[in-house]
This record gives sequence, structure tokens and C-alpha cells, in this order.
Amino acid sequence: MTNHPQRVLSGMQPTNTLHLGNYLGALKNWVRMQDEMDCLYCVVDMHALTDAGYAKPDEVRRAIHEVAAAYIAAGIDPKKSPIFNQSRVPAHAELAWIFNCVARLGWLDRMTQFKEKSGKHKERASVGLYTYPVLMAADILVYKATHVPVGEDQKQHLELARDIAQKFNNDYAAPDYFPLPEPVITGPGTRVMSLRDGLKKMSKSDESDNSRINLTDDADTIAQKIRKAKTDPLPLPTNENEFKGRPEAENLLNIYAALADEPVKDVMARFAGQQFSVFKGTLADLAVAKLSPITTEMRRLMADPAEIDRLLAEGAEKAAAIAEPIVKDVKRIVGFAG
Ligand code: AMP
Ligand code: TRP
Repeated sequence: MTNHPQRVLSGMQPTNTLHLGNYLGALKNWVRMQDEMDCLYCVVDMHALTDAGYAKPDEVRRAIHEVAAAYIAAGIDPKKSPIFNQSRVPAHAELAWIFNCVARLGWLDRMTQFKEKSGKHKERASVGLYTYPVLMAADILVYKATHVPVGEDQKQHLELARDIAQKFNNDYAAPDYFPLPEPVITGPGTRVMSLRDGLKKMSKSDESDNSRINLTDDADTIAQKIRKAKTDPLPLPTNENEFKGRPEAENLLNIYAALADEPVKDVMARFAGQQFSVFKGTLADLAVAKLSPITTEMRRLMADPAEIDRLLAEGAEKAAAIAEPIVKDVKRIVGFAG
């Protein structure tokens, strides 16, 4: 056991718009954790440049504001939990370089997200995309964060962050200097699937907009997307064994449970044997009731980008006050003079 104080750090990329998976898999847990520990929430704009459509400065700027607005609209209180964009705190980049020298090529070669994102033409992917998980480790460890609430897809990156922390501590004979950060992956919303294909993750980059519910969708669009969601011809399952071969049914029931904060078992018991058309109507009402207030608040906040910038600057100052002494320590530990 270590005696590092408990601290939460998480982040999202400002690329495209946020969707229901981001909300249920991550953001919703972030809001809850504010009452349990000190939290910092980052808009990872440096990671956004690793994306395929990277050279779009206006889009990056807009998306930074949108992601910050989503954090606040979902219930993050910037007074309690600093909200800031990564590029405003240079300590992230400084530590990332040192971690680039700690992490091994073999470790990064195993990263499935790089393989998925780089596709068949690995040699054309940016070096930034390859070393992306190293920057993520720096985001976390530059605050000595102990808990990282994320969706399922980030589990492997968290393992890498733990490996980097461990190797740094060992190589520099600084036992327990960095904590080994714990992934917090909980609830039925940790892997929300596409509404068009229950075997594919709901994703910002899916070309079909009907595959996801965006946090900017209005009530009619949300209801329509749920009505059109792919299902199978059978009635709703009565127990979890009946999920076999029915990924769309499983996904919609998980979404309901995550939105309603109810165990999947209970939701299933309520709708067992009913037709999807009935269930979809209730799910659409629930989704609209939970998401519309967030969408409305996001719109209100986005109308004043200067105020969002002010909050980001304020958050960055608080974040830097924690990160700078840690990076200073690390520089001393690795032997940099001055
Ligand atoms: P990203 O949009 O890739 O920056 O992801 C931001 C956060 O949302 C991360 O914690 C992801 O794990 C989470 N996330 C993204 N897509 C999904 C999904 N389909 N289901 C659950 N969580 C997700
Ligand atoms: N890689 C994460 C994602 O795509 C985003 C991220 C970057 C992150 N740095 C982080 C998440 C630090 C948690 C902690 O979702």
C-alpha cells in the first residue's frame, strides 16, 4: 500500500462532438467522484493533434470550448475541480518527454488503439499517435493522480501508465515516487455500443451519425435515433443468459440502466418479454429527460467562449501549481542541472 493522497485526473479529446458513450462511460463518473476526492479534469488538446484530421485550428478551438462546456453542463464544478486544457500546462509535455525515454518500444507496439487508428498504413501515422499513451501517462502522473475514471477502451493505456510509473520508480531508485494509478471503470455504461451495430463501439469517428447520440442532439433527434436503433425480432430478454447473440438488446438495456442509475437486472425484470417498440419509447423519454438539460446548458455556455476561456485559464493556474513542483522534482531525480 502506498500513502499517496487520493487524486483523480481524467480527460477527453476535443475532436468532433461528445456522445452518449463519453457521457456514460466517463463524464457521469467524473461528476460523482467530485464528492469523493480532489479531481482535475483536462481537455486533452495536445492529444487532439494526433487525430487524422489534425490541421484544423478553428475546429480544435471550437471543440476545446465544446468539451469544456460539456464538462460543466454535466455537473463538474470548476471551483471544486479545475477544468483546463492540457496545452496550457507545459509540465505535461515536459514529463511526457522524460517518459518517452522510460517507456519501451515493445510496450507501445502492443497498444491496440494505435493498431486500430493507424490501420493498414502504420508508416503514415504520426509519431504523435504512436506515443499518445506516453503523453496520457504524463497527464496522470504529473499530478501523481491515483484514480482515473475512463471507459473500457482506455484500460490498456492505464496499464501502460502503471508500467511507466513502476519503471521510473525502479530505474531511479525512487521507490513509490509515482503512485500506480488505478483505472476506475464502473457501471453498465463503460462500453456503449453503436446504435447501428451492437458489436461496434459507439464512436466519434463512425461515419453514420445515427450510430451515436451526440450531446448536442435535440430531443427529436435523440428520440428518432433510438426509434431507428437496430434490434432483433425477438421480445426483450428475461435474463442475462439471453443476451447471447443479441448485442443490440444488451446495449439498449445497458444504456437504460446507466441513464437510470439502476442495475441492469432490475431494468430487465421490468421489460422482460415486451416488444422493442414499447421499450424504445420509454428509453427515448428517459434519454431526453437526462440529456436535454445538459444540451441546453452546453448551448448557453458555448454562447460565451470568453467566459469558458477564463475558466480554462483559472483551472490551468491551479493545475500548474500542483504539476510544476512535481516536474521540478523529476528533473532533479533524472539529473538535470538547475
Ligand atoms: P475520447 O472521446 O476517446 O477522448 O474518450 C473520452 C472518454 O470517453 C474516455 O474515458 C473513453 O474511454 C470514454 N468513451 C469513449 N467512447 C466510449 C464508449 N463507446 N463507451 C463508453 N465509454 C467511452
Ligand atoms: N486517451 C483518452 C481517450 O481517448 C484521453 C486521455 C488523454 C486521458 N489523457 C488522459 C484520459 C488522461 C484519462 C487520463 O479517451
